[in-house]
Amino acid sequence: MGLIEEILVRPKLRQKLWAWWYPFFTRRVRAQGIDFLNYAFEEPAAVRLELTPADEPNRPNIQLYEQVRGDIMLTGRRVLEVSCGHGGGASYFARTYRPTEYVGLDLNPEAIRHCQARHQAEALRFQVGDAQRLPFADGSFDVVLNVEASHCYPDFPGFLDEVARVLKPGGRFGHADLRYRSGVEEWVTALVKHARLRLDEMRLINPEVVRGMELNTPRYEAMVKQALPRFLHGLALDFAGVKGSRLHRDAVSGEMSYRSCKLTRLA
Ligand SMILES: C[S@@+](CC[C@H](N)C(=O)[O-])C[C@H]1O[C@@H](n2cnc3c(N)ncnc32)[C@H](O)[C@@H]1O
Repeated sequence: MGLIEEILVRPKLRQKLWAWWYPFFTRRVRAQGIDFLNYAFEEPAAVRLELTPADEPNRPNIQLYEQVRGDIMLTGRRVLEVSCGHGGGASYFARTYRPTEYVGLDLNPEAIRHCQARHQAEALRFQVGDAQRLPFADGSFDVVLNVEASHCYPDFPGFLDEVARVLKPGGRFGHADLRYRSGVEEWVTALVKHARLRLDEMRLINPEVVRGMELNTPRYEAMVKQALPRFLHGLALDFAGVKGSRLHRDAVSGEMSYRSCKLTRLA
C-alpha cells in the first residue's frame, strides 16, 4: 500500500493529517489566490460553459462543480456546501444561480477566513464546522453539495446520516469523491443502502477527472513549487494529482475510483 492510499484508507490517520494539512496549505498559498482544491473535470463532448473572464482560469474546477450539480436546481433554494474549501465553487454557484441562501462550511478556519475576505455575493456566507456534526437544525436545506472531501472524514455513513438530517424531504444531495479500491465497497454500499436517501444516479468519472488533472498540471506544479518547501514537493505533487504522479496514474489505471452521485432525501 502506498503512502497516499494509506492516508486515504485509515480513518484516524486521515482525520489527523487533513486537520493539520489544510490550514497549513491555506496559509502557504494565501498570496496566490487559490479558490479551488479539487482535481477538476473535463468532458470534451459537453456543451461549453459560458464563464466570465475572472472565472475562466478555473474552468476545469468549475466543470467538476457543474458535474456535481447536474440536474439539481439551486435558484431560489437554500443550499449547504459541506467542505467548501477556498470557496471558489460556492462563489461561482451563488453568483450564477442565485440561491435564497448558500452556506459554505469547512473544518479549516484558515479557509473560511480566506472565503470571507475573498468571496462576496448575495445570500452567500461561510462558517467553520465539521461534516460529521453539521451545526444546523433538521430539515434546514433544499440542497446539500459535497465535492471531493468525504475521503477526509472518519465516518462516511455518519456523514450521510447528517446530510439526511439537515435536508428537507425531497431535498437533493450532490456528491463527488474518490476512493482507492479497498474503500469503494464501503462507500458505495453506504450510498446505495441509506435508509433516508435514495441514490438517483452514480457515474464513474475517472476519464473526465484525469483530463482535469492534466489540464491543471502546469498551474498546480507552479503552485506547489511556489508555496511549499522543497522537501514537500514530491508528496504535494502526488496529492495535487499532476500528470505522472501516483494519484494520476492510479486514476488512469482505475486503482483509484472517482464517482459523482445524486441522491434524494426520502419523505
Ligand atoms: C480536496 S478539498 C476540496 C475543497 C472544495 N470542495 C473544492 O473542491 O475546492 C477537501 C476539503 O475538505 C475539508 N474537510 C476535511 N475534513 C472535514 C470535515 N470533517 N468537515 C468539514 N470539512 C472537512 C478540508 O478542510 C478541505 O477544505
